[in-house]
Order: sequence, then structure tokens, then C-alpha cells
Amino acid sequence: MSMLQGMMSKQILGSIVLVLGLAGCSSLTGGGGGSWPYATLDGKRPLVIAHRGASGALPEHTLEAYHRALNDGADCIEPDLVFTKDGVLVDRHDTWLSTTTNVASKPEFASRKRKSTDPEASDREDWWVADFTLAELRTLRAIQPFRGRPKTYDNLYAIPTFDEVLDLALSRQTVAGNPVCVYPEAKSPAYHATVGHPDMAEKILAALKAKGLDKKDSPIFIQSFEPPFVKKIQPMTDVPVVMLVGDRAALDAAMKVEGAPFWDGLGATHQMLFDASGKPTSLIRDAHARGIAVHTWTYRDDAPFKGEDTETSMKKALALGLDGFFTDFPFTGYRVVNEVALGTAPE
Ligand code: G3P
Ligand code: CA
Repeated sequence: MSMLQGMMSKQILGSIVLVLGLAGCSSLTGGGGGSWPYATLDGKRPLVIAHRGASGALPEHTLEAYHRALNDGADCIEPDLVFTKDGVLVDRHDTWLSTTTNVASKPEFASRKRKSTDPEASDREDWWVADFTLAELRTLRAIQPFRGRPKTYDNLYAIPTFDEVLDLALSRQTVAGNPVCVYPEAKSPAYHATVGHPDMAEKILAALKAKGLDKKDSPIFIQSFEPPFVKKIQPMTDVPVVMLVGDRAALDAAMKVEGAPFWDGLGATHQMLFDASGKPTSLIRDAHARGIAVHTWTYRDDAPFKGEDTETSMKKALALGLDGFFTDFPFTGYRVVNEVALGTAPE
């Protein structure tokens, strides 16, 4: 398909969706209508969550990648959050900088390279976000970390703050004309507490409140892999909080924490939806029985799971009643959801 054909297909599809009022993000599972064919928690269509922005096309966690994600049909944009030295929440997946920025090419920062104090990156020698002020980080530019993805946009885009992402969201709408949902992840709150930033929950909530995005119906989900953080922040806010789990053992461990489940949504790897023989697990059914939505990660067009193309993986997950999913390629997710909604998904 040519680029022009692709753009036209997208415009036509977008028009159909606008007419039917299908896309959206108005509740925990999002969706503007009750016509979704599968048993999501609220019967609405699932959310397409742009993982680190449209990170398959542009360097991740840049304003440009978030804009592109919304142009491509995402309901939500996902900023991973870490702290600068001067206590500003900025968007990076890693606590270090060399994977996603051009810091290694900056002679003025050469002496900053050092061994890690982050237990999740214990053997790493790198440049660390927590050693840089916001002003210093602003001199860096993002690069594409994934092999095989376009490097054309390297060295162009700055690291955004969380505030800037919220402003971007408030300045835009989804393709279907709904408010943009923001899905911030608190990265490594326990580590940040050891480098002078014990207040990640308070800072995230203050940023949301300052923008009027702290209400029960605000299009926000807060996520974390750390059960203590989820347990702490959930009663502090009216917006939904999502417990991230990388496997069944992590879910079982979180469930053993007193008061569990203390989350409104579960963010699980998509591998947890099926057992080794390919049979669906009870993950979604069990969560829904407790009133908990399930969002899975991460679908990548260029990294199919067990040789299965990504669209097939998405469709099989959606058929289980999945409430939303993270993808590096939001246009693929948008198209798949629309095809299922419209009954035009090829077998
Ligand atoms: O937050 C959902 C998913 O993004 C978790 O994986 O490592 O890409 O942040 P990660
Ligand atoms: Ca994330």
C-alpha cells in the first residue's frame, strides 16, 4: 500500500468512526459507545494506549511521538516518569540516558558517566537522569533505541516534562473528538526515594491537580510496577490506579500484600492471557469478576509473539474482553479495534 493510499484509508476509517461515535476514553475502559462486540468490563470499546508515544515511528517519550500517536488514532498517550536532579518529573523509560538520548556524544557531560546506584540497573555504567538538572537535560536530544526502526528523527527532539505532556493532552483531541487520556507510569519510585525524591506520588498528583486532571472522570490512569507505591497512591486520588505485573509470580506477590487488590486496573503482559498451550487463562475473567479492568502490554508490529503476527495477537486478546492495550504502533491498534468494531476484521 502506498503512503497516499494509507493516508486515505485512515481518513475514511476516521470518518466512519466519527459518524458511529465509536472511539473514546470516558471511563476506566474508555470507549464512547456500548457497541463493542466483546465483554469488556463496561461493554465499551477498548483503549488504544500509545506506548511511550508512537515509539515505533519516532524516538520514544517526545512531544512529537505523542502528537504522532494521537494523529494515528490513540486514545491514550503513555509517559514514563523519572525525576531530574532538581526534582522535576520528566519523560524517560530508563533512569539512565545513553539508550534514548545523545548524551554520549556530549563532551561537556563526559565526566558524569558513573556506576549505577539503581538496583534495577546494578551493573550499568552510564549517565543518570537524577544527576542532571532540567536545564542540562534540555540540551540533550532523543534517539531511537530500537534496532530496525527509523533513525531519521534522531538528535531533533527534546526530553519533555510531565507538565508539558499534560498540556499537550489538553490541547488535543483523539481522532474521534474525545479528550486525550494520559497514562503516566511512576518509574522506580523506591529507587528515586534513595536519591532524594521520596515524593513521587505527591508530585504526580500535584501535577494532575494543577491541570484540573485529578477528578474521578478525568481521562487519567496512574500505573506502577511497585505494589507499595500503588497501595500508597490509590487512596490519595480519585483517578484509577493500575498495578503493573510482568508475570504470574508478580501478580501473586502483589496479591499477597495486605489489602490487595488495592488497584482499579491491572496492567499485565499480553503473554499472561494465554497458557503455554495457547489456551486462554482466567486472568481477564478473574479481574472482571472483581470489577478490575485489564490492559496488556506491549504489542509491537516489529516483534511478533511466537511467530504470530501482531494483529492476530491483538484480535485474540480483544476477543477475551480485554479493556485496553499498549502498543508502539498505535495506528495498527486503532485499525484493528475499528475493524473488530465494524465487523470487517479479516479472519
Ligand atoms: O507500562 C506498561 C508498560 O509500558 C510496561 O513496560 O517497561 O515499557 O514501561 P515498560
Ligand atoms: Ca511504561
